[in-house]
Amino acid sequence: MEIYQVKIPARFPLQAGCFPSNSKKTSTFLPRVAAFTTSSHSLTDKSESESQNRMFILGMGFVCQFFAQSLQKEGWVVTGTCTSKTKKKHLEEKGFHVHLLDANQPELSTLNALKCYTHLLVSIPPVGCAGDPMLQHEELLRSKLLDGNLQWLCYLSSTSVYGHCDGAWVDEDYPTSPTSELAKLRLDAEEGWLNLGQSLGFSTQVFRLGGIYGPGRRL
Ligand SMILES: NC(=O)c1ccc[n+]([C@@H]2O[C@H](COP(=O)([O-])OP(=O)(O)OC[C@H]3O[C@@H](n4cnc5c(N)ncnc54)[C@H](OP(=O)(O)O)[C@@H]3O)[C@@H](O)[C@H]2O)c1
Repeated sequence: MEIYQVKIPARFPLQAGCFPSNSKKTSTFLPRVAAFTTSSHSLTDKSESESQNRMFILGMGFVCQFFAQSLQKEGWVVTGTCTSKTKKKHLEEKGFHVHLLDANQPELSTLNALKCYTHLLVSIPPVGCAGDPMLQHEELLRSKLLDGNLQWLCYLSSTSVYGHCDGAWVDEDYPTSPTSELAKLRLDAEEGWLNLGQSLGFSTQVFRLGGIYGPGRRL
């Protein structure tokens, strides 16, 4: 498992025709982008658009919205998914480009869009019995990610994969020993995403989150 680093200056070529129509550029980080950042800037400026970092987030939930905001401030184009029209509207008002997605029946148009992005972050949790809902469609997903612009894939997991540790310090080297069914599915999901990303040649990471709380969220 690799340690996560956001290397923002890295730029990747993008295929033409991949750009969401309502993307905003607000970069203060990428000098060349910042130089022409205005609300009137159009993504038809192909040379800049094609080199911009672009994050696609499967599941714009609590954690990913904060992350997405930070990326936007650094000049990234950020697109995400959610499951309801109400939330989609809310996220669009915050300046994100949003697709509706039911991971059990993902829209082909959404999957087709993935290959236009340089980075993919997966935040959709597994569910009992079915496991990771996106990985149910692994072969379809693989076919959509081939030959695209994706370089980096990250899966948000949980410290539940360690099971009960009797108060011991736990880090990435600590052996996993999930006890609950959901934690076992989480470990399977980690493995599934790692295999998928690595087999496609992407830099692939898993982050195991502990309990996160914050505005509007309690443990
Ligand atoms: N926050 C924590 O304390 C914590 C701790 C350990 C692990 N984690 C894990 O880290 C990840 C991010 O955490 P979070 O707190 O940001 O989670 P969250 O707020 O619950 O966000 C989960 C996202 O997944 C989407 N989603 C859920 N089921 C879906 C489905 N069947 N199809 C499509 N999308 C679906 C949700 O859509 P909607 O936006 O429409 O609801 C939401 O955007 C999750 O996997 C979570 O289990 C979180």
